[in-house]
Amino acid sequence: MIVHLVGNRPQFIKLAPLYHELNDRNYEQCIIHSGQHYDAGLSDIFFQELNIPQPYVNLKIGSGTHAEITAGVMLGLEKALIKISPEFVILYGDTDTTLAGALTAAKLNIPIAHVEGGIRTHYKGNPEEYNRIVADHLSDILFCPDKVSLDSAEKEGMIEKAYLTGDIMYDTFLSADSGIETVEDEIILMTWHRQENTDRKDRMESIIRFIRKLDGKIICPMHPRTQKCLKNFGLWEEICSIENLKIIEPVGYMEMISLMKRARLIVTDSGGVSKESSFAGAKCIFMLEADIWDDLVKHQWIFKMNPEDEASVKKALLFGKQAVRVAENERPQFYGDGHAATKMADLLEKYLFKV
Ligand code: UD1
Ligand code: UDP
Repeated sequence: MIVHLVGNRPQFIKLAPLYHELNDRNYEQCIIHSGQHYDAGLSDIFFQELNIPQPYVNLKIGSGTHAEITAGVMLGLEKALIKISPEFVILYGDTDTTLAGALTAAKLNIPIAHVEGGIRTHYKGNPEEYNRIVADHLSDILFCPDKVSLDSAEKEGMIEKAYLTGDIMYDTFLSADSGIETVEDEIILMTWHRQENTDRKDRMESIIRFIRKLDGKIICPMHPRTQKCLKNFGLWEEICSIENLKIIEPVGYMEMISLMKRARLIVTDSGGVSKESSFAGAKCIFMLEADIWDDLVKHQWIFKMNPEDEASVKKALLFGKQAVRVAENERPQFYGDGHAATKMADLLEKYLFKV
């Protein structure tokens, strides 16, 4: 039995191709949902759209502090893993659910594969960085999405267990993409939810000042965390008064793809969305000082902006003004060939059957 542990929106999106690939190979597998994301728009919709079966169990951890989430997931997961006794646990990304999975499975001596191994932001203010480091070092196999993450794994002495598979989010994107692009009615697509950007009022204020300077129609499917923080800081009315900004509820994956393909520019602090910008053909302003998708930054596809630094904002605005949609044959290709799940399944098979 193979167990997939997921709990957050981007993890459902990463899970779909690997689940389907293993299913095609007749593996026995089950999904454990930590319940870290529980709103239908952050969870159920992805199971429906991506045709993922219902989880075997939902641990219903809900929201809390980092320690509450991590410890709570560990308690529920330990019981479930003892009962299931799987041959492998597959972890995704870098959330508190991932960290809990790594600690719990390792102590039960269950082999772990980590999808998105080797990624580093080299940024201490980033809570996910600790999750990545622990998950990678406790894993038996690392599926690295790009050369940069493979190199990071090598630097940390993990090359023997690290493999370049390409990025599984590209598999999902290709399988869901209708190919239709809307060139008229172009938009700026914006999402942000990182703790570093949402949890301080002055940081939020600098982001609002930046939004006011953006030219064009902005659509923002807003993460509930961002909405909650804006309300708590008394900034909700101010942000809603920005005329060219339309705030909407988080959208499903299909709608997200069509928004990305309408965008001439994407502004985000999301790891997933900033990379998907290159699949969809819109350049990206990344609103965080952390390291992110090095190749796209070097290729000047992503511009990294510190919203609290005036000079950085000025450069970002110029970058944004010049951004136009990029034709499919001119988009950079750093994240594999869209068959990451096949490579991952081959590697799992090798490990399981020692072939
Ligand atoms: C989490 C991950 C982050 C990932 C993101 C993907 C950690 C530390 N963070 O951030 O790495 O990029 O998911 O979206 O694991 N909330 C709801 N409904 C929900 C879930 C959350 O309203 O279904 C609200 C709650 O107020 C909660 C807040 O969002 O307190 C934050 O949720 P949490 O799961 O702690 O972190 P995210 O910001 O979602
Ligand atoms: N996404 C979505 N609807 C939204 C916002 C994001 O389907 O309203 C998708 C997005 O296309 C990407 C993933 O969710 O595939 C990224 O999730 P998120 O930004 O929450 O997390 P991160 O990538 O930062 O961990």
